Amino acid sequence: MHERSNWLAAAWVLIAACVLGIPVRAQTPAVEYAFEPVIGMPGKDVVWVPTPPPVVEFMLDVAQLTPRDFVIDLGSGDGRIVLAAAKRGARGLGVELNADMVQLSNDEAARLGLSKRAEFVVKDMFQTDLAPASVLTTYLLPHLNVKVRPQLLAQMKPGSRVLTYAFHMGEWQPDAVLQVNGLTVHLWIVPARAMGLWRWDHDGIGFTRHYEMNVRQSFQLITGSASSKTSFAYLRDMKLEGDRISFTLTEEAGSALAQTRYEGRIEGDAIVGTARTNNQDVVRRWSATRVAGRTDIEQRK
Ligand SMILES: C[S@@+](CC[C@H](N)C(=O)[O-])C[C@H]1O[C@@H](n2cnc3c(N)ncnc32)[C@H](O)[C@@H]1O
Repeated sequence: MHERSNWLAAAWVLIAACVLGIPVRAQTPAVEYAFEPVIGMPGKDVVWVPTPPPVVEFMLDVAQLTPRDFVIDLGSGDGRIVLAAAKRGARGLGVELNADMVQLSNDEAARLGLSKRAEFVVKDMFQTDLAPASVLTTYLLPHLNVKVRPQLLAQMKPGSRVLTYAFHMGEWQPDAVLQVNGLTVHLWIVPARAMGLWRWDHDGIGFTRHYEMNVRQSFQLITGSASSKTSFAYLRDMKLEGDRISFTLTEEAGSALAQTRYEGRIEGDAIVGTARTNNQDVVRRWSATRVAGRTDIEQRK
């Protein structure tokens, strides 16, 4: 109950600032700037309300941020998320339409000696190339998260992490919903495109068989059916995480019963990985080719 009321409070701050236009003085560090941000200041699509510092640090923990990561914060406000990422050795870009906030953020990066790793630009988030981001953060209202969703699914590499403070992404179910101080953070792992018709040959029980697998996909959730000319085949335990796909194919071939665990990485229209039948010691190389049906991930058919 206490956690729920905290979450509601976090959501209320942003919604109240948007709807009622209530300005609240920001608790910013005691640094002299000609421009002083005020919580609730209007923005193009949403007002400025900052993510609380413990939530910022928690989001970066959940992202398992490393110095190899590149963070993009959409609507970066006073730059706190990208600056926090740069302090941990990562690089990042803050995208913000308020030029004063961008100036403030770049000044703070310079003051902290982080300008090489933290950059802020005046730009519309919907006109931003998200391909460089291995981590994307937002504190936007749900309809804006949903609006940016096709952009991030089309542009970000599979396996990249998306984190939001407080708000969801519509029908795209999060991979994790976590709490810090009663405030909610969502995590999504960008899925590869796994849908379509895949073919491969495999010899797990003494003779080569030809398989077809039809994969249906709704964001990171996959289901499918498999067929083989020489056996009855069924797919179970299908999982997609980033570019990693795994499933178990059970089949009856005459009186033989085979169960093969497939694990691989999707690279374009190929899957490369391993297959292991009936828990035997032999782990065989496995590759499959997509022959049809690669479509936009949000069409989901
Ligand atoms: C709720 S604040 C979040 C600030 C920051 N991300 C944080 O978590 O502390 C949203 C920010 O998005 C900015 N904004 C609104 N519409 C935008 C747009 N179309 N493109 C870029 N920034 C935008 C606002 O000016 C505001 O600073």
